[in-house]
Amino acid sequence: MIVIKGGTLVDGQRTVQADVRIDQGKIQAIGLDLEADQVIDATGQVVMPAFVDLHAHFRDPGLTYKEDLATGAQAALKGGYGTVVLMANTKPTVDHNEVYQDIVDRAEALDLIQIYQNYAVSKGLKGEEWVDLDHLPASVKFLSDDGFGLQNNKATFQLFERIKKLGKGLMIHEEDRELSEIDYRYAEDVHTMRDVYFSGKTGARVHFCHVSTIDACKAVEYGKAQGYPVTMEVTPHHLYLSGLDYKVHPPIREEADRRYLVEALICGAVDCVATDHAPHSEEDKLKGSPGMIGLETAFQVVYKVLVEEYGQDLQLVSRVMSQRPAEILEVNKGRIEVGYDADLVLVDLAQSETIQPNTIRSKSKNTPMMGETFKGVVTTTVVNGEVKYRREVNEY
Ligand code: NCD
Ligand code: ZN
Repeated sequence: MIVIKGGTLVDGQRTVQADVRIDQGKIQAIGLDLEADQVIDATGQVVMPAFVDLHAHFRDPGLTYKEDLATGAQAALKGGYGTVVLMANTKPTVDHNEVYQDIVDRAEALDLIQIYQNYAVSKGLKGEEWVDLDHLPASVKFLSDDGFGLQNNKATFQLFERIKKLGKGLMIHEEDRELSEIDYRYAEDVHTMRDVYFSGKTGARVHFCHVSTIDACKAVEYGKAQGYPVTMEVTPHHLYLSGLDYKVHPPIREEADRRYLVEALICGAVDCVATDHAPHSEEDKLKGSPGMIGLETAFQVVYKVLVEEYGQDLQLVSRVMSQRPAEILEVNKGRIEVGYDADLVLVDLAQSETIQPNTIRSKSKNTPMMGETFKGVVTTTVVNGEVKYRREVNEY
């Protein structure tokens, strides 16, 4: 029995000065003067549910010079994440059961964070032939062709009908690739509107990845107002950056988009923050690979925008980084309540950190935040009741 003592507990619902006892992987008691075998001192720190990321790329198998399951998990832990959902654009693609099972088995053996692997929608993410939808592993929650999107309207509509019958969900990277040759904004907006509409017509469960424009966000809001089974995420970089020329899909947008997304997150229209952690080597970035890493800076960036810039409280941060993503994934996480999984993070808000290559645990260092200083440092990450990360004093 571990007791985390002396901290301020913050989740999406409340802020309270109390200790929390964890036993056999679960939150077992919340209160004061709890008996313990082992104490973790959280004096002066905030204790939150570990963060849940619905969107990351660990590049394993096949592209492990960029990242692998172990380095990705280490980056996640340093950022305070206990659960990460991985996209299927590996090599080979996660479009058949052997590669899916291999990742799931290796992630479990690694025993660092909880990993959920998405299954591809189409073979090789080519959008031509669907994966074997009738024989998907039962543990698959979401399918996604992230990186590419779904191009053909008729095929997409038929896919939604099948997904509805299967009872799985789709996570969609919205991009009409014909239109992206003209304007990336039209590309995202048009396909988002299409898929909100298709979700309404078919009842298919759709989660919209990295929503980045005013109109795409409004389209999903419309779907929600109609009662369609749609949810959406925004990335820390689209909440924080605007007008910057750093290659990422979807692109960094205008200041008006950024503001709209932040306000939509505050009012609950946007469900959650997801990193779209997309590691690339220096050479690949020079050749034009889109994306940036995000797991290690997500909390700091979100804190800076929501709390420092917009004056919101940490409960909102917790809702959008833990509670809502856990609800979308339908896992027993993201809250500090008795019976929930003991996935917790300790954050010291009095400390700050300057992002430097030697502070980054990811194999890749591609981030435009390099050199910036952020407030809030994750000192401890607990997953499944076990301490998986402790920041050493003077570690960096
Ligand atoms: C992602 C990647 O690198 O896998 N890149 C990105 O810019 N977000 C895939 C993608 O969503 O395009
Ligand atoms: Zn994407």
